[in-house]
Amino acid sequence: MSTAAPSRDTVFRPGPAPLRARLPVLGGTLEYVDDPLATMARRYRDHGPVSDLTFLGATWTALLGPDACQAALQNADKAFANGPGWGHLVGPFFDRGLMLLDFEEHHHYRHLMQEAFTRPHLEGYARTLAPLVEAGIAAWRPDPAFAMYPALKSFTLDLATEVFMGGAELAEPGELERVNAAFVDCVQAANGYIRSTRVPFTRWHRGARGRRLLEDFLRRHLPARRARPGEDLFSALIRVADASGGIDDDDIVNQMIFLLMAAHDTTTSTVTSLVYELGRDPAWQERCRRQCLELGPTPTLAEVEEVADLQLVMKEALRLHPPVPVLARRTVKDTEVLGVPIPAGRLTAVMPLLSHRMPEYWTDPEVFDPERFSDARREDKSHRYAWEPFGGGVHKCLGMIFAQLETKLVLSALLRHFEWTVPADYAPPMRNESLPYPGDGLPVALRRRVSAHWR
Ligand code: HEM
Repeated sequence: MSTAAPSRDTVFRPGPAPLRARLPVLGGTLEYVDDPLATMARRYRDHGPVSDLTFLGATWTALLGPDACQAALQNADKAFANGPGWGHLVGPFFDRGLMLLDFEEHHHYRHLMQEAFTRPHLEGYARTLAPLVEAGIAAWRPDPAFAMYPALKSFTLDLATEVFMGGAELAEPGELERVNAAFVDCVQAANGYIRSTRVPFTRWHRGARGRRLLEDFLRRHLPARRARPGEDLFSALIRVADASGGIDDDDIVNQMIFLLMAAHDTTTSTVTSLVYELGRDPAWQERCRRQCLELGPTPTLAEVEEVADLQLVMKEALRLHPPVPVLARRTVKDTEVLGVPIPAGRLTAVMPLLSHRMPEYWTDPEVFDPERFSDARREDKSHRYAWEPFGGGVHKCLGMIFAQLETKLVLSALLRHFEWTVPADYAPPMRNESLPYPGDGLPVALRRRVSAHWR
């Protein structure tokens, strides 16, 4: 078993809030951005599982620990709504995406959209992804300070344009690059401090421009995809929409933009965390590599699912570094959580990150210990919501299997072609303004393996 980095924060020994965290209005925001986990731990220690804080100039009720998170995610009295919660953060950029719909309407769209994530479709996505992943990763160049995060980010975006939209055959020269840039602008807009699309040179302004470009791109290509469908997600969604008559073309475009956002940073973040943890733990890296070398260069969905150690390390990386550490809601009526009243209209932050590190539910929560998910231990069963990287309740991640497929394909190709290390005492400086990412790009010493196969 590996040991924790000395720099990793220890949840239940959080010190006092730093001075700038106590500033009015932006204080809570700065404290969170500095260190989300320590902020949550301090809040839980000082105020319990339900308390109010200021974030981006608004009052939010924070829900901490698996019981409080469960109450909002299961949403028994239908008091918590996604649209006005997430809408506050991601503004108009992901308008009408599935995650921002609520109640009846959400149920209707979710029921239709899940058809595009059934096993036969996932097998098709695997067929598209596997050769692209193999060729893309094999072409990477070894480097003693390889900036892993930007490389993965750009690689997964390229994969998304292929598997989501049918790729280059749709685009004119340079168009995919513009689409990718527009998409990045939309994602970055979520954490803009100036929340108006009318103010030039702001993130929201760029996000609005990006959104228009994406809408235009998808709208132009929709008829061609309808006429000549492929194995991509866009084609699958059009087919589902047309067969049911329940989603119009505007909403096909809305859902596609949202799916791109939901898939991209989250999957990049998961692979990045895996590279980091395995870079610090050569024994687990080698253990996973041995199993991956049993796979062919282009494994199927069923084959990647059978690699037991990949499943363990992926779950553990998602526990330590959940790509979505906070989920947004807003109450649509007066309610209560664990006996604490919450008024109607209140922004609510469901914070799974803390649940993943609570010693009540996990042995040595700061330690990278994939075996905790083995059948013999199953620590994640300590509470139904102890491990919730994909959320829970009716909004639980629709792309969960897809995400695991892509993560495992990329990681297994990396393991076959390369080996890598990071210094044992290294912890990347995390940026937490939107979804967390390593501000230094996560430099790793990347060496090519002599052979990508045993024989
Ligand atoms: C490891 C990668 C991923 C993580 C950790 C993740 C996490 C999440 C979480 C926590 C939610 C729930 C949000 C909420 O309740 O407010 C969610 C929702 C969603 N995710 Fe993912 N996601 C990942 C990858 C993906 C991918 C690859 C796709 C699509 C291909 C996707 C599609 C969606 C959709 C459509 C929803 C909204 C579901 C609904 O509201 O019914 N996700 N995801």
